[in-house]
Amino acid sequence: MELKGISVAVTGGASGLGNATARRLIDAGAIVTLVDLPTSDGDAAARDLGPNARFAPADITDAEQFAAALDAATEDGELRGLVHCAGSGRGMRILDKHGNAGSLEDFEHVIKLNLVGSFNALRLGAERIAKTDEVDGERGAIVMTASVAAFEGQIGQINYTASKAGIVGMTLTAARDLATRRIRVCTIAPGIMDTPLLSGMPDAMRAGLEASVPNPSRLGRADEFGQLAVSILENRYLNGETIRLDGGIRMAPR
Ligand SMILES: NC(=O)c1ccc[n+]([C@@H]2O[C@H](COP(=O)([O-])OP(=O)(O)OC[C@H]3O[C@@H](n4cnc5c(N)ncnc54)[C@H](O)[C@@H]3O)[C@@H](O)[C@H]2O)c1
Repeated sequence: MELKGISVAVTGGASGLGNATARRLIDAGAIVTLVDLPTSDGDAAARDLGPNARFAPADITDAEQFAAALDAATEDGELRGLVHCAGSGRGMRILDKHGNAGSLEDFEHVIKLNLVGSFNALRLGAERIAKTDEVDGERGAIVMTASVAAFEGQIGQINYTASKAGIVGMTLTAARDLATRRIRVCTIAPGIMDTPLLSGMPDAMRAGLEASVPNPSRLGRADEFGQLAVSILENRYLNGETIRLDGGIRMAPR
């Protein structure tokens, strides 16, 4: 897909992987709408990206807010791309240290944010992309964000792992479901990326994480995620696949 002049929405675009993706998209000539929480730095992030970026505040788990933000994205150009990065985790175990059952609320919170939020992105994004005319045999593409935790979930991540595995599971189904609309769907499963999500980590822990990545032995850069997201949008033959972006890491149990 040619990105020049089209509109692309990036959820979680005020920070981390989403923000780096927005920067790559702007460089490629797209018009970008950052969809992020009203409490985020979305306004400043959009200003920083220049005149081809705008901020549309929304909680991606809220159907009406998210739909309105995507409608705003269609005002500047045909919405043909959606890169869905908004998400987060909340540590929990099946049993707490006293042997009590883990919190159902903590489980449901992360499933709603990451998994239900991704379905919301798929359905609302596809609804708008499907209204555009085909160009070179396609209307657009959606990129979702999972995690290597979808495959090697660590202790304390039962809710996060379930949500990210659900996103991986949806990917091929979504690509098949939207094939007749000529909308592609792929997912990126990042390893350990250097974003504000990991800020506050002690140096020793960071060094240990870096050493656990085979090659290159460092955390992933947000820009490397942006590069892959842009490449997926551009590459007409990528569809229905989850791509690990992880320097070859396979996570240990803890
Ligand atoms: N950083 C990593 O190591 C890593 C690894 C694997 C997967 N991921 C995934 O990548 C995605 C982005 O992570 P990041 O590292 O860029 O994090 P980040 O915290 O830097 O950015 C996440 C953004 O999402 C926004 N957001 C959170 N909840 C939202 C909601 N309900 N509605 C709208 N926006 C919301 C936040 O305001 C924030 O701007 C997440 O889904 C995360 O699970 C990150």
